[in-house]
Amino acid sequence: METVREGTASRDGEGERPFELPEVMTGTHGPEDGAGTGTPWPDDVPPEQDDTWFPLRDQPWKARRLEYLIASLWMVTGGCGIGLMICYWTGGQAQVEGALLAAAFGCLGAGLVLWARFLLPGQDVVGSRGIHYSDQEERAAVVASLSRGTDAMMARRGFLVKKVLVPMGGIFGIAALWPLASLGPRYGRFLYHTAWYPGARLVDENGRPIRVGDLEVDGVLTVFPEGHTDDTLPQNAMSPAVLLNIGGDVIHERKINVGFEQRSGGNGYVCFSKICTHAGCAVTLFNVLSMQLVCPCHQSTFNILEDCKPVFGPAPRPLPQLPLLVSPDGYLYAKSDFVEPVGPGFWNRGGPA
Ligand code: FES
Repeated sequence: METVREGTASRDGEGERPFELPEVMTGTHGPEDGAGTGTPWPDDVPPEQDDTWFPLRDQPWKARRLEYLIASLWMVTGGCGIGLMICYWTGGQAQVEGALLAAAFGCLGAGLVLWARFLLPGQDVVGSRGIHYSDQEERAAVVASLSRGTDAMMARRGFLVKKVLVPMGGIFGIAALWPLASLGPRYGRFLYHTAWYPGARLVDENGRPIRVGDLEVDGVLTVFPEGHTDDTLPQNAMSPAVLLNIGGDVIHERKINVGFEQRSGGNGYVCFSKICTHAGCAVTLFNVLSMQLVCPCHQSTFNILEDCKPVFGPAPRPLPQLPLLVSPDGYLYAKSDFVEPVGPGFWNRGGPA
């Protein structure tokens, strides 16, 4: 509906003259009011609107059947949640997990759509665009209207909400938390110790115990604690050590290095961690002339005669030493675990020394 209000305009030679501006009425209308009349929403909502009406209200058997269908869909969602947990627990399989997730969300969504479309109370209401704000009273009316709908929904479909949606959604929600396990195993004290222990005999890769006479002077051998030769197992991975026979004379010459002598146990044998303190490569090269161990990855060089102190390359600290003893029957064994934690990283960032 249009009304007319006055304005002015100027045109050369004509001076000012009144002209007409169209004015658009705000407000809403009902079918009986005609366009442009009426009052803003929510008064558009027919006062006689029945808040308990829903599409299947007059077909209770159909509503009941639909309820069962929705319940079944949500139970499938819950079942998929259980399936996800089992699948994850047994090692996981990306395709199966994807299918289960799709089925779970699909059934959950389908159930919600059917529920909203056919079982929730409410009618389609057409309202025109009116003024774009609501006063306090109108807001209160909207809230009251929504509350009536919610009450009616809970009164009629409490079974679906409380007995099916909440428990099944809960199961599915718990299943969604399971990937947290992918953050990795709990290390506990694993990083603080290796498989070496007091009294552990030194053995070669075949598990053969090492005796004092087995290694000639300037000889080198990778050794493991007895019973822990499989260094592919996480609990053994940090245990490999380099056993060197640098000769009793050399040790004698270095008598000034008290710590060295005490830890080596004499007899020319010394033993150091084989895990480089830079980035964890295996320290495999022994330079007899300079009495140095060299890591092939980035050439960190450790001076054996100075407790394997790094003298070149990026390694930040010495290779930890394994204190040795000799049993009465001539076998080499560990007096304790390494004197400090082995490997790189964690220990250089403030871990216990
Ligand atoms: S890992 Fe040994 S020097 Fe880098």
